[in-house]
Amino acid sequence: MIVLGLSGAVSHDASAALLVDGELVAAAEEERFIRDKHAKGRQPAEAALFCLRQAGIRPEQVDAVAYPYAPIGLGSPARWHYAARHWYAPDRALTALFAGNRRFTRNRRRALAMLGGLGFENAGARFVPVEHHLTHASSAYHLSGFDGKVAILGIDGRGEYATTFFGYGEAGRIHTLAEFYEPDSLGGLYGAITEYLGFEMLDGEFKVMGMAPYGDPERFDLSRLLRSDGRRLRVNNRLVNVVGLRRYKRAGKGYFFSPRLVDWLGPPREGDAIDEPYIHYAAAVQKLLEDTVLRLVETHLGPTLAQGGTLAYAGGVALNVKLNQRLMALPDVQRLFVQPAAGDAGTALGAATYVAAGAGDTVQPMRHAYLGPAYSTDECLAACAAHPSRPHYRRLDDTVTTAADILAAGNPLAWLQGRMEFGPRALGNRSILGNPSFPGVAERINAQIKYRERWRPFCPSVSDRVAADIIGTDHPAPYMTFTFDVAPQWKARIPEVVHEDGTARVQIVSADTNPRYHALLDAMAERTGNAVLLNTSLNRRGEPMVCSPRDALDMFFGCDLEYLIMEDVLVTKPGVGGEG
Ligand SMILES: [Fe+2]
Repeated sequence: MIVLGLSGAVSHDASAALLVDGELVAAAEEERFIRDKHAKGRQPAEAALFCLRQAGIRPEQVDAVAYPYAPIGLGSPARWHYAARHWYAPDRALTALFAGNRRFTRNRRRALAMLGGLGFENAGARFVPVEHHLTHASSAYHLSGFDGKVAILGIDGRGEYATTFFGYGEAGRIHTLAEFYEPDSLGGLYGAITEYLGFEMLDGEFKVMGMAPYGDPERFDLSRLLRSDGRRLRVNNRLVNVVGLRRYKRAGKGYFFSPRLVDWLGPPREGDAIDEPYIHYAAAVQKLLEDTVLRLVETHLGPTLAQGGTLAYAGGVALNVKLNQRLMALPDVQRLFVQPAAGDAGTALGAATYVAAGAGDTVQPMRHAYLGPAYSTDECLAACAAHPSRPHYRRLDDTVTTAADILAAGNPLAWLQGRMEFGPRALGNRSILGNPSFPGVAERINAQIKYRERWRPFCPSVSDRVAADIIGTDHPAPYMTFTFDVAPQWKARIPEVVHEDGTARVQIVSADTNPRYHALLDAMAERTGNAVLLNTSLNRRGEPMVCSPRDALDMFFGCDLEYLIMEDVLVTKPGVGGEG
């Protein structure tokens, strides 16, 4: 069957995915097309249109539209739990009880209006709502490729009401073992502290995690932010994940932490500096998250893991790669699959796979995340010819050689090739690359594109030929969803991509899923001895990742990068590298 999955129901990260007879053929995030990060409040119209065009499918051919947000009945504990825990904001509590599916109704109306605009009005596709956490679960389990009994974990801010999911998959079916509900949300807690530390929720969580190794997790005891006996979870919503009058307010903006938290920890952090005491708070909240999740996983998933040894994991918190490293180290976890689009964009995949599996399709494992649009060399040339900045450009005969020469000399290189990645990580198709053994290259990238805080780590893409030597394990890692301890003999060889704590968020590149990127790593090995590249996403700070050649050129001429390669086209600026 043909299923179109949509996301965007939680008012950010709208996306679309298309599943044809169990095979994921296209997926993309709306933000990339409309050039607005997280596409807040938007429907995935452009993304859905792209998926249909990519597969050559008309709306009449689509059997079902899967939607990652569903009505929650009063028989579920979810709405009662929410009401009881929000007694201090009676309007919210009463809404949960008496109009608890108001958001669903509004979401469905918006989605149907968007579909109407795409030609679905009388096309006959069924509209199938799926509970948000089941879609996260499905995006991990059904695409993991794991057989037998698979433990499933889902942790995010919230969906309809649920915030945390423990379950297992077997024979294509997902079973729920336990769920927690808002406000008892680890994503909500971490997000609130992210705001307190001066970052924006949805993006800043990575920064808190990056800051944590600079602090001492024992310096402050943040344990009062939650209570957990290893089975249940109660977030202290006098301090974090607060709503209504409990919110800390400044300059007309309300935050997810309370004035009481400020009384306890001091004023919220401002600016870009690494400073005390905030680095210690970051370290402490990271440790609190890790310790809490590990205990909960042991309780709820321990028996399943002891049987099967496999864990499939999604939800926004699954982007916390440090926590993932600890999950992978659990004795009963032989294999961990983290859905690369673990955040809400990935619920489009999960909704589609859930509906397809429910209808009897066998969902094929995800082989790679290159699911977006591609552009030919001719299209890249045409974009150069049409661009108002009048780029210097030329067609290359041996693109990999030219790219490796530029990189080996210590230059950062903007690199666009093949189909765009789905999910928040650039995996070598929309990337800024650097030579990680060239001292100062990370700083050069930061200087040329004024991109991010200097203490955020850059990450390596490594060839599958050397990966095991660098990370000391043969565990797959194609998506940059885990950190690994870097082997001592490699730390000095690739210093630019090793974080403060000696770890690296590695992408292992194989020739069968990305031949050209793999060949570039080989070419780097010839020049530097290391089949490793520094790889960061192709975008400027605050912007979504580049999608098209036009976007790449806009970005290139809006920063100080000197080299851009798009398919077989080299673009330079006047006076750079003698090109013209
Ligand atoms: Fe979610």
